[in-house]
Amino acid sequence: VKLTSNRKLEHLILCLCRDVEHKKKSGFQDIELIHRALPEINKDEIDISVNFLGKKLESPFMITGITGGHEISYKINKELAKAAKATGVALGLGSQRVAIENPELEYTYTIVREVAEDAFIIGNIGVSHVKYAKKAVEMVDADALAIHLNPLQEAIQPEGITHSKKTLEKIGKIVKELDVPVIVKETGAGICYEDAKLLKNKGVAAIDVAGAGGTSWSAVEAYRSKNSHLGKLYWDWGIPTAISTVEVREAVDIPVIASGGIRTGLDAAKAIALGADIVGMALPIMKKAFFGYKEVISFIENFNEELKIAMYLVGAKNIEELKKCPLVIRGKVREWLHERGFDTKKYARRSLHG
Ligand code: FNR
Repeated sequence: VKLTSNRKLEHLILCLCRDVEHKKKSGFQDIELIHRALPEINKDEIDISVNFLGKKLESPFMITGITGGHEISYKINKELAKAAKATGVALGLGSQRVAIENPELEYTYTIVREVAEDAFIIGNIGVSHVKYAKKAVEMVDADALAIHLNPLQEAIQPEGITHSKKTLEKIGKIVKELDVPVIVKETGAGICYEDAKLLKNKGVAAIDVAGAGGTSWSAVEAYRSKNSHLGKLYWDWGIPTAISTVEVREAVDIPVIASGGIRTGLDAAKAIALGADIVGMALPIMKKAFFGYKEVISFIENFNEELKIAMYLVGAKNIEELKKCPLVIRGKVREWLHERGFDTKKYARRSLHG
């Protein structure tokens, strides 16, 4: 377990110091919102708050988990919790597994609830360790639990667990056992239509697509491993986030979180217009957290402003209206969606006011 802890630290350092992002894009460059010369709303009246899984968020934003299992996480989690409290966004933790196996590390997580008593906090555990689900929730009095799926990372890292049979069954069992909502998330390779349907049928409350285009686990492994061949080969593997957002939204009617390479409020506006309810960001937020919670707060405030400008320019005065805005899907994203049999024209032709 000490080894796991060191591995997590190594991941974190690599994320901070190296370029660990996909070379391929998240797909939002192919999404165009339609500019309105007559927005017919006042920008200062735009409301970006949302209700997400029964709780109000001040903006459609979730910090998503990337850190955990090391003493250093204490500081990061504390700064993240202060920022989540101040800005009213959701806080998703990194995997709690190491802290469950080593109770002396619990304090690195429990700090989030001490700092942010009322925040929407999402516990986190890998699908290979769902036996810890209940403990993960209890540790931080979580409002929801995220179960992360990471077959790509497991397949390319030397210590990986590549036994995936009966994963769905395990998820279904946890959904029944827990009394908080279960979110299933990927970790940077996206979720397709087929898998979204399977997850919905097991009763999961929400899906975080965590698609390709942002931070790449394979890239991290390429730097870490002595044999970097696999990490390099699979650096860009996965479903780009814009595409995964459509695939999942077309498959299910439960809340969808778009994440993986979301970097601005404009990306978020596009993701929400494509069908997401909220968006998530991991790496950019973690980088800010190293410099303290004030940096995280100003990043989120900038994000909110970027989002509001997009909403103003498409004439959407709240998030529900943004979801109905017409948009044009071009280039590679359109090509993918067409090949998969999705109707892209319906997005272009819909109208804000029905
Ligand atoms: C992750 N991610 C992740 N996800 C999760 O649910 N629990 C975790 O513990 C981790 N840990 C983790 C470590 C490292 C090194 C990476 C690269 C990723 C996935 C993460 O939440 C997110 O989906 C991806 O980083 C993509 O989002 P961004 O960074 O592009 O915003």
